[in-house]
Amino acid sequence: MDKIRIRGGRPLKGTIPIGGAKNAALPLMAASLLTDETLTLVNIPHLADISTLANLLATLGVEIALDGHAPNGGHAGRALALSAKNITSTTAAYDLVRKMRASILVLGPLVAREGQARVSLPGGCAIGARPVDLHLKGLEQLGAKIELKEGYVEAAAPGGLVGARIVFPFISVGATENLMMAATLAKGRTVLVNAAREPEVGDLARCLVAMGATITGIDTDTLTIEGGAKLHAARHTILPDRIELGTYVMATAATGGDVELVGGRLDLIQAAADILGQAGVSFAPTERGFRVSRTNAALTGVDVMTEPYPGFPTDLQAQMMALLASAEGASMVTETIFENRFMHVPELRRMGANINLHGGSAMVRGVPNLTGAQVMATDLRASVSLVIAGLAARGETTVARVYHLDRGYERLEEKLSACGADIERLKEGA
Ligand code: UD1
Repeated sequence: MDKIRIRGGRPLKGTIPIGGAKNAALPLMAASLLTDETLTLVNIPHLADISTLANLLATLGVEIALDGHAPNGGHAGRALALSAKNITSTTAAYDLVRKMRASILVLGPLVAREGQARVSLPGGCAIGARPVDLHLKGLEQLGAKIELKEGYVEAAAPGGLVGARIVFPFISVGATENLMMAATLAKGRTVLVNAAREPEVGDLARCLVAMGATITGIDTDTLTIEGGAKLHAARHTILPDRIELGTYVMATAATGGDVELVGGRLDLIQAAADILGQAGVSFAPTERGFRVSRTNAALTGVDVMTEPYPGFPTDLQAQMMALLASAEGASMVTETIFENRFMHVPELRRMGANINLHGGSAMVRGVPNLTGAQVMATDLRASVSLVIAGLAARGETTVARVYHLDRGYERLEEKLSACGADIERLKEGA
């Protein structure tokens, strides 16, 4: 398996382009199942998770074409055309679904359009651990009959779905997206109360409107969908990836660098930017995005708590911890969205970080310098936190199992080396 080797201690300086949001692209791709006309998604990121969902959609009969290149030779201007003219299968098989939890997003659109769907439960995701109960309960409220059989969710609504008022007991991004998509084809009005307000949910809603859906309350916690219209072709530009953006902000801050993030929107990471400001990081708007720098000040410890949007995102928690590991003073990092999202902690400790876990909180006592070590990626965001730690550390770090990184970061080594990082991918066997 590939590894990444980093020789740390060089401040990042230069320009980094920000790609389209993975977590917006995935539900948008699933939305192509709602119409027999072509949905074109512009600014599609080039990532393993996108290929995984494209492969899954292809098994359902969706025709997919990719074209267009960004002027800088990257993948960022790519347009993905998805055409679900004929849905040839309503089964999403285990082999593809197990690779990515977001595959569950095909369930709502399939049952809404075809009246039936059979979708494997997401991999390693026994109901109870990281469940999809809100997705299923919501579909039942829209009139689907749901059964769990042999590891598959079987949903049936032969007469079509019917709009309903659904009150989420807590906020779920995926359940909001799945039910919003399903509701566009349901008969009558659906109201989603306590809906997720993540920008990716708003992006999906805007695309559905461009496809002919009627949705009000976009970007609020109450979404009203007037269902039943036939959806049609649309062309939609995916919003920038706020997690990729926040990751490079933290990498720049951790190395004491100065980087312009092209295509980056500060408003998408406002909560993180506010906390980083308190820690000693500066931001300045530019014509193409914004600049982040920490060239004079030392970093100081700050307390962080993850929350649904507009709060501090859980998907930036590991990166923030890598940054705080060498800040002056102590920081308390509290995770409220996922249990057990501290897998990066033992790895950061191998690099000299002083971190103690107390339930859902981590007490980080800053050390003057992290030191390079051999570490292992455990999931997507944990793996990039180790890259950040490696960039800031003295000496050499190798990060193993980097396939996790390829799920969510496009051309990571290239973007970082262009800003002066000493980072390279060691191919398997090297
Ligand atoms: C999405 C993001 C992921 C991010 C997360 C939280 C995508 C593709 N992924 O994941 O990167 O970390 O939002 O911002 O957009 N839950 C249930 N039952 C359900 C659904 C969720 O108990 O039916 C729980 C989850 O276990 C978790 C919490 O609710 O503890 C939030 O999960 P959710 O917002 O649904 O996350 P995802 O949509 O899976």
